[in-house]
Amino acid sequence: MDVVYKALIAAVAAFAAVCFPYLLLAFLCRHRKHRLLLPRCSSSSSSSPPPRAMDAAAELSLSPSSSWSLYGGSSSALQKISLDDLSRATGGFSPDNIIGDGSFGFVYRAVLPGSGAAQPVAVKRLSADHGGGAGDREFRAELEVLGGLSHRHLARLLGFCAAGRDRVLVYELLERGSLDAWLHGAGAGAGAGDGDGEEEAMRLLPWAARVRVTRGAAAALAFLHHDRQPPVLHRDVKSSNVLLDEGFEAKLADFGHARVVSGGPAASHLSTQAAGTAGYMAPEIREGMGASVKADVYSFGVLMMETVTGRRPNWPMKNVSGKEVSLLKWAREKVEAGMSSEIADHRMGLIQGEKEAEEVKAFLDVAQSCTEECPRYRPSMQEVVEMLNRL
Ligand SMILES: Nc1ncnc2c1ncn2[C@@H]1O[C@H](COP(=O)(O)OP(=O)(O)OP(=O)(O)O)[C@@H](O)[C@H]1O
Ligand SMILES: *[C@@H]1O[C@H](CO)[C@@H](O)[C@H](O)[C@H]1NC(C)=O
Repeated sequence: MDVVYKALIAAVAAFAAVCFPYLLLAFLCRHRKHRLLLPRCSSSSSSSPPPRAMDAAAELSLSPSSSWSLYGGSSSALQKISLDDLSRATGGFSPDNIIGDGSFGFVYRAVLPGSGAAQPVAVKRLSADHGGGAGDREFRAELEVLGGLSHRHLARLLGFCAAGRDRVLVYELLERGSLDAWLHGAGAGAGAGDGDGEEEAMRLLPWAARVRVTRGAAAALAFLHHDRQPPVLHRDVKSSNVLLDEGFEAKLADFGHARVVSGGPAASHLSTQAAGTAGYMAPEIREGMGASVKADVYSFGVLMMETVTGRRPNWPMKNVSGKEVSLLKWAREKVEAGMSSEIADHRMGLIQGEKEAEEVKAFLDVAQSCTEECPRYRPSMQEVVEMLNRL
């Protein structure tokens, strides 16, 4: 008897644990409907047609046990580079050549002696502590996802090296570094010195440049979500992963957390490792509900808010009542109070009433619909691209 009871209780508990995320999601979505402000995403698809097949597929959550997929087999075009060559190219992985610092290791500037002209590259060495563990996952994701992709707004992976415990990835060098550094770096807004004329003119990242970078990053994500079958989730969209080339064109980088969507919705609750970075993470990811394209859309919305305000998304802001709130909430309150012009990064020197200030308003609208709490109310990246083109 007792055993039967225990089994019954265990079964009910397990059922409840499995259902909880779905109930929460349902609650979030229902809750959202009662708000007065209609989300832009639902008004743009006015008579709410049934979701397109691809959207439905893309919304399927990611199976944590999904096997690794190779796209197009084009990773065979990737160069295998010896550790010796990489060591020589980076001056023995000299600290002097470090241009970036990620959670899995350092990124070095290097020159690879190729056939023909020597090529400047970025070399990412995954820390040995992670060899075989998390670092290996990151290595494989970069190789197997990014390695097979090619797009104007994706950072290009050129080669790799796996020797012993060492895992090294080689990318095209993106000369201007990350958007993060341009928005918040030591040189941003202050008297950075030694740059060339263009660098000087771009120091404050004028509005037009911010819009161009945002459009580029949106195009990259739309490509991953809509032009690949099955879709690719980036899962770590943030300003340090948007890199800028010589002409300040955006290139989405860091595919260490990226995954190819496969498996059905039933697998979603199994996804235990929530990928992403504080401040950019969609609420449903924080609740442990597995990734979807709409979680990328959320992070992208946060990135937009960061780009227009020039403020870090994980730093608390004070609202008019002196309460600490998130950047998103702060911005939402300002917009609702009709003070959107106050949000824009003042370093851009926008003048109210001018065309640019109007664009800021429209840009904020897009950012807000991307960061809707309920995933269903967020636009697709395709819609985001269209909205950004209409600014
Ligand atoms: N191809 C590249 N060209 C120029 N700089 C690069 C390149 N790749 C990376 N970097 C620099 O190195 C930094 C770290 O990159 P990386 O992708 O390893 O980590 P991250 O995005 O900062 O952190 P995380 O691993 O937690 O996502 C970037 O922000 C950028 O400044
Ligand atoms: C400021 O934030 C607090 C806490 O989130 C909130 O209760 C309050 O309504 C906000 N004030 C205004 C004026 O929006």
